[in-house]
Amino acid sequence: MAFVTNAELLARAMAGGYAVGAFNTNNLEITLSIVEAAVQERSPFILAVSPGAMKYAGVAYLAAIARVASDSTDVPMSLHLDHGTSLEEVKAALDHGFSSVMIDGSKLPFEENISLTRQAVEMARAAGASTEAELGRLVGVEDQISVSEREASMTDPAQAAEFVERTGIDALAVSIGNAHGWYKGEPKLDFERLREIRTRVSIPLVLHGASGIPDDMIREACAIGVDKINIDTEVRDAFRQAVARFVSENPEQIDPRKILAPAREAMREVVARKMRLFGCAGRA
Ligand code: G3H
Ligand code: 13P
Ligand code: ZN
Repeated sequence: MAFVTNAELLARAMAGGYAVGAFNTNNLEITLSIVEAAVQERSPFILAVSPGAMKYAGVAYLAAIARVASDSTDVPMSLHLDHGTSLEEVKAALDHGFSSVMIDGSKLPFEENISLTRQAVEMARAAGASTEAELGRLVGVEDQISVSEREASMTDPAQAAEFVERTGIDALAVSIGNAHGWYKGEPKLDFERLREIRTRVSIPLVLHGASGIPDDMIREACAIGVDKINIDTEVRDAFRQAVARFVSENPEQIDPRKILAPAREAMREVVARKMRLFGCAGRA
C-alpha cells in the first residue's frame, strides 16, 4: 500500500488514545527490522530518515527501500523526514515521495522558527505531505547547564499555541526534559508542562528522545496525550551489542549476512516491544 501521512496516522492515534512509534533507519537491515516488527505486531509505524541518514545512504536508496516495504506489507506506514533543518532537505524528501516532513527550527529565535516552518508547511502541503516542527530545544544529556537554563529551553505552553496557530503544522514536537541519546540517570519529564501544552494545543504532540525513558513514564506521556514517540538510540544499541557479541563468539565468520542476522533480530525485538508499550500494536 502507498505511504500514509503522519497526520492520518496520528489522527487515528489521538482518537484511539495511543501513540505511533517513529523509528530511525539508515540502511536495509534497520528498515527490515522495523518493518518486520510492525508486521509481527500489526502496528502502524513511521519510518524516520534524518539528514544524516540521507547523507549516509542516499535519500533515493532509502526511499526506494521504504517503497518496497510499503508495497509488500499491509500495515499503514509513513516515510518521514526527521529533524530536517533546511528547505533543501525538505524538498529532497518531498521529491522522493516522503509523506511527512519535520522542519526543526528549534535552535532559531521564535519568529525565525515560525518563518522557516511556514515555508516548509507550504511546500509539504503542495506535495500532499504532513508536517512536524519543534518548539523549545532538546538539551543534550552532556550539556552542562543550570536548572534555570534547562527550564528556559523547554516548550512554553502559551508560545506553543501561537506557534501552531501561525505555522499551520500538523504535529508539534515538545521539549519537556526529554533529550536525545542515553539519559544520565532517570530522566525528569515535566508532565505538568505537557498537560498545559495539551490543553492549549489541539494537534498531535511528539516526544523525541524516548530511548531510556522508563515504561511507566512513557505510559503517563501517552495518557496525557503524546501521539508520536521517536526511538533511535535503543535500536542502535541493540544493533551494536548483537554485532559485538556475534563477532566475539564467531571470530572466523566473515559473511555479513551471518554477522547481521542477530542484529536484525535484536532490533526487531526492541521495536516490537516499543510498539506494544506505545499501544500502537494491534492497531493496523
Ligand atoms: O534525533 C536524531 C536521530 O537519532 C537521528 O540521528 O542525526 O545521527 O541520524 P542522526
Ligand atoms: P533517541 O535516540 O534518544 O531515541 O531519540 C530519537 C529521536 O528523537 C529521533 O528524532
Ligand atoms: Zn529527535
